[in-house]
Parts: sequence; structure tokens; C-alpha cells
Amino acid sequence: GYFVPKELPLKGKKVVVTAGPTRERIDPVRFLTNFSSGKMGYAMAEAAASLGAETILISGPVSLSPPPNVTLVSVESAKEMLDAVLLHFDTATMVVKTAAVADYKPKEVHSQKMKKQPGESVIVLERTTDILLELGKRKKDQLLIGFAAETNDVIHYAKSKLDKKNADYIIANDVTEEGSGFGTDTNAVTLVGKNIEQYFGHQTKKVLALQLLQTIIQLEKDDAK
Ligand code: CTP
Ligand code: CA
Repeated sequence: GYFVPKELPLKGKKVVVTAGPTRERIDPVRFLTNFSSGKMGYAMAEAAASLGAETILISGPVSLSPPPNVTLVSVESAKEMLDAVLLHFDTATMVVKTAAVADYKPKEVHSQKMKKQPGESVIVLERTTDILLELGKRKKDQLLIGFAAETNDVIHYAKSKLDKKNADYIIANDVTEEGSGFGTDTNAVTLVGKNIEQYFGHQTKKVLALQLLQTIIQLEKDDAK
């Protein structure tokens, strides 16, 4: 079960968690998004707060209530999420990037509703900023934790994201695994760091989030010795 730890290892520290999908507008009535429910991110924020952190939860549009003792910042697009994260980055101890950020956005946002036309149509897309990559370039003492939802070669891709984005940990999950990934209340993940590859079996996202944070805190403590 979920029990609040007596020790508060994150007391006095600021943790920034991003959660949910982003929305990239096409026109005033349409957008691009993905299947992220925000549940894992909200569980990470709840865990950070329960460990004593001042917790900033930067969330895309989801249908969840924020956990107690968390400051919610609601955003829509990848650009808004980037700006909100950067506002808190310098003073953060840890950034947990659980959000499923859109990789592409429409190159042109129509100011009026697009009308249907006969035949095929094309929406030209351009890349969004990779927020985690950007943080990896700017980081000083901040601990950077990313997530990676994959359908294949999970550990291989997690390791390459760890390197490429200069992250400290990537929490990877195989979304094809039963009871894992988008929308479910449970998950199973592998914590991948420079010196660690640890599988956390199927359990609720809330319990998993707490175990992940506690494990990371312990690893960092051991590392500092
Ligand atoms: N991420 C981000 N900004 C983006 C895209 C991703 O900050 N524009 C972050 C996610 O929040 C996550 C990590 O990068 O913590 C990995 O996201 P993922 O989508 O798995 O990786 P990508 O680098 O986008 O690669 P791909 O989607 O091609 O697998
Ligand atoms: Ca992506």
C-alpha cells in the first residue's frame, strides 16, 4: 500500500514535475495530442510532495485533480510547458519530465476554422523544442529525470535518451506490456541510470512513483559518499 514516509528527504527542496499530454493547435477547434492521461506524472508529484518537496506540477490538459500540497501550473502546448519549466529550473533540485510532449506541431495555426475540401489534405508539421534536451544543456546541479514510453527495444532506447539528453535517469516502460502505460492505474517500468538498470514490477502508479523517487534519492546519497 501507499504510506507516507516519516522521513522527509526532500524537505527544503523544489521538485518540478511535468505531466499529461500537450495540445498543439491546428485551428480554433482542433489540435494534435496523444493518449497520456497524466496519471503517472500526478503520482510522481504526489510522491515528491509526500517526501517533503515544494512541488510544482506543470500539467497539460488532463481530467485529474492535483494532489495535496502541490502547486499546479496548467499549460497547453509544448512551448507553454517549456516556458513554465524554465521559470522554475534555476531554483529546482530535481525535474521529473513525465509529460508526453508532442514532438511536432502544425507549422501554421489557422486563425479561423478550416473548412473541408474535396480530396486529400496535408497539415505541414514542424518540430517542437525538446524540453528535456534543453534542460540537459542548461543543467548545473539539478537532477534530471525523464520518462520513455516505448513499444520495442525499451532499454536500448532509454539508454540512448539518457546520453543524448544529458539526463540522470530515464524511467522506461514498455507500453505493450499488460497493465502498463497510457490511461491505466498501474505500470511496470525500468529505472535506467549511468550505473543502474532496475526493473520495478507491475503495481499502482502511486506506489511505483514513491518507490522510484525513494530509490533515486538513495542512489544519489550513495553516490555522494
Ligand atoms: N521530451 C521533452 N520535450 C519534447 C519531447 C520529449 O521534454 N519535445 C521528454 C519527455 O517528457 C520524456 C523524454 O523527453 O521525459 C523522452 O520522451 P520520448 O517521447 O520518449 O522521447 P523523444 O526524444 O521524443 O523520442 P521519440 O518520441 O522519437 O522516441
Ligand atoms: Ca517523443
